[in-house]
Parts: sequence; C-alpha cells; structure tokens
Amino acid sequence: MQKEDYNFTFEVYESIDELTETDARLLSEARKVTQHAYAPYSHFSVGAVARLDNGKIVTGSNQENASFPLGLCAERVLLASVASLFPEVPVKAIAISYHNENGESNHPISPCGICRQSLLEYETKLKQPIRIILGGLRGKVYIIERAGMLLPLSFSADELNT
Ligand code: THU
Repeated sequence: MQKEDYNFTFEVYESIDELTETDARLLSEARKVTQHAYAPYSHFSVGAVARLDNGKIVTGSNQENASFPLGLCAERVLLASVASLFPEVPVKAIAISYHNENGESNHPISPCGICRQSLLEYETKLKQPIRIILGGLRGKVYIIERAGMLLPLSFSADELNT
C-alpha cells in the first residue's frame, strides 16, 4: 500500500478591495446578478458571471422549479449561456456570489459537486483553465487557479473509451 497526496492551494483575500481591478469587477457583477435568481423555494440566490477570452461578460443565476429536481444552479445556467452565445470562446474566469433571504452573505461558497463536474468539462473542452473567484456580498474572497482543482480524481470522458 502507498499513499498519494492531493495538494489543493487557493488564495484567500480579506475582502474585494484586495483584488485586481479585473477580478473585483467580475465579483461585483456576480453580486449584482444574484438579483436575477429565481429561488422562491430555497430563498438562496446565487449569481455567476464569466469573463471570456474575447472580453465578453456573460451572466447566470439559479433557477428553481416547483418540481424541485428541475432547479438549476447558477453555474450551470451560466455555462449553458456561454456555450450558446460563444461556443468556441474559452472562459478566462468565473465569479460566484450569493445571498440568503435577508439579502446577506459574508463568506465565500463554493460550487456543488454537479457544477464542479460541469466546470471541469468546460475547462477541458476549450483547453483553458477557468479561474474561479468566490465571495459573498462582503467578507473574504477565495481564488482558485483552475476549476479542475475543485474535483480531484474526477470522472472524465476518457473513461468512456476504456
Ligand atoms: N446553488 C447554486 O446555484 N450554486 C451552488 O453552487 C450551490 C447551490 C443553488 C441551487 C438552489 O437553487 C439553491 O442554491 C439552494 O441550494
């Protein structure tokens, strides 16, 4: 038996004020986009915003449904929009923010397992790392160099051909 290591390093900033202007702008957008969420069941509003290689900004937010399993996370709504609007353009960075039903949030949340898998596949498909910026409406901000880091030992399309 031997043990293998998975090393996960990410950056932690005290607030949005410490970010570069480009990253700060994307996180500010994600904070605003939480207002487009349709979350009458969870009352948890999530906004996700992508900056593409061509400079375009695309937004997404969580969209729930009375048939609960149909609800979509902000990250996958965003990826579907990016793929529809700019199918060939790689994503440089995605910022994700959220707030609760009182309109508050003070720490980063990170994408759910399904969204991690989707983000990883998008990164792989367009062969460019996607920088992930996570932050609430206030408080600390986490930056992860590429989406795939959030999913060690991931399932990939390569396995389908074994
Ligand atoms: N949600 C997201 O949109 N992104 C995440 O990363 C985690 C959860 C949504 C799904 C659901 O509409 C609500 O937040 C509560 O889980």
